[in-house]
Amino acid sequence: MDEHILLLVDDPREAQAIVTQLAAAGITAKVASPRDVAAAIRDCTLGAALLTEKMLDRYGIEGVTAAVEAQPPWSDCPVLLLTHRDYVPSTDRKAVMELANITLVERPLHTESLVTAARGALRARARQRKAQAVLEAHDAAEAQVRALAASLEARVIERTSALTTEMQQRALAEVRLRESEELYRLTLDLNDQIAWSAAAGGAPLLVGERLYEVTGLSFEKFANGDWSSVAHPDDLALIGEVWERAGTVGAAFDVQFRVRRGDGNYRWVRSRGAPRRDADGNVAQWYGTVEDIDERHQAEERYNRLQSELIHVSRGSAMGAMASTLAHELNQPLTAIANYVRGSRRMVGALTGDGVAGVLDALGQADASVIKAVEVVRRLREMAAHNQDQRRAENLPDLIREASKMALADAGVLEIAYKIDLDPSATTVFADKIQIQQVLTNLLRNAVEALTPNGLRRIGILTKLVGDACVITVRDTGTGVSPPAAPRLFEPFNSTKLAGLGIGLSISRTIVEAHGGQIWHEARPGGGAIFRFTLPCAPVARQPAATPAHH
Ligand SMILES: Nc1ncnc2c1ncn2[C@@H]1O[C@H](COP(=O)(O)OP(=O)(O)OP(=O)(O)O)[C@@H](O)[C@H]1O
Ligand SMILES: [Mg+2]
Repeated sequence: MDEHILLLVDDPREAQAIVTQLAAAGITAKVASPRDVAAAIRDCTLGAALLTEKMLDRYGIEGVTAAVEAQPPWSDCPVLLLTHRDYVPSTDRKAVMELANITLVERPLHTESLVTAARGALRARARQRKAQAVLEAHDAAEAQVRALAASLEARVIERTSALTTEMQQRALAEVRLRESEELYRLTLDLNDQIAWSAAAGGAPLLVGERLYEVTGLSFEKFANGDWSSVAHPDDLALIGEVWERAGTVGAAFDVQFRVRRGDGNYRWVRSRGAPRRDADGNVAQWYGTVEDIDERHQAEERYNRLQSELIHVSRGSAMGAMASTLAHELNQPLTAIANYVRGSRRMVGALTGDGVAGVLDALGQADASVIKAVEVVRRLREMAAHNQDQRRAENLPDLIREASKMALADAGVLEIAYKIDLDPSATTVFADKIQIQQVLTNLLRNAVEALTPNGLRRIGILTKLVGDACVITVRDTGTGVSPPAAPRLFEPFNSTKLAGLGIGLSISRTIVEAHGGQIWHEARPGGGAIFRFTLPCAPVARQPAATPAHH
């Protein structure tokens, strides 16, 4: 900065002399107004001020004090005060002189002392300016540090909040994961199938908690196929074979066998396992399940027992019905024989000759045999009639569903689609359940047997309330009945099948008619057969609540 000295001198000639003397020494000095001097001190835009005591008395005391006090911290503007040796400062002026950086320059004015004082003042000023630069640099550095600190703090706050959010999210995710693991575990525990996985060599990786509960084996024994302590002796060979094949060629398995429980009872379990193979085809890991299937097994056995019981009962019922049919069919010819025998005896009795007595005796025996046969027939009919005492109100939908389930148990294997379509108002029939199930079984098995391997394989079972009767329909998409064969369908011992007895339909007719119903055949448009029979509805079915008006 080009430093200069501002002058506040009352005598213009003295002022001019000072400017000249200082200029000769290379120092710029300018005369200024008291206000400009005060402003220059305040704003630090001068190198130094030079004023006479008179000017200080006139303007300086307040203006200079205020300007001096208003300087920035680094600035202490040098002030040269031209004064007489005997100058006595007033109290006010003393205060200014203590406050300000004042150098006295005594009169009479010597160029040398003036220039020395001026140089000293400017040097001091130059040092202040250097200090200012240092201070400003320091301030700038400090500001930079503050800005950096602020931005760092902002980033720390930002990162902290991001981290907090991240941690909260992670904590939440962990909670969710735990919950889902818990759910998975609970689901596994609830599941009847206990999952396990094992390394290729059999080392356990994951085992459901209930493995021991169900198998009575530790995982190690389980993985080694060491069932000898718990499995039923009869099943050990099967288990050994399965484990052998799994261990040697990695064969997947699905076996059922019995294991002994703590209470000494055996229960059926199903064990399944399959390997996961690596790219080279080697077993990498095993997965599997173990399941206690004892209840299912027992249910299956119960079902099989029930079915064989039903077949047994049906046979009894079929025999009863056949007896009734036979009785019906035999009665007329027997009566005719009896009449012919008696007529013959009368005619032979009128003859004479050697052999007559013998013929009469033979005819008498024939008559006795006929009477015996009629008696057998009568008893057969009685027996059949006796069988019909089992009739009562039965729920038709239940009866139909049960019979279809039994008669069509193999529908899945035989790839037959069957559909049951029940009229909700046909609810109760008055019938012997076993016998009606026998009719349904006969019709359904005939339908199954009529289906062709490559044709449509469908069977429909329908009910419909018509007036006071329930009409039950069994229809199929099989070969159908040829028109010439149709009239003889319900006759006994009429069969087109290699292994058929030809009594199914005849027995069915006997049963249905004994129930007060009718049975008939209709050709199915588009191929196949329709068999329908009616049964009287039980009185309860006629109550308005049970059967809404329906025709
Ligand atoms: N749904 C049907 N479709 C085509 N033909 C049928 C059908 N039902 C019965 N038939 C014909 O009627 C005949 C008599 O049937 P029925 O049930 O009385 O005897 P079966 O089935 O031959 O022998 P089984 O006494 O073993 O039942 C059958 O041989 C068959 O020719
Ligand atoms: Mg049949």
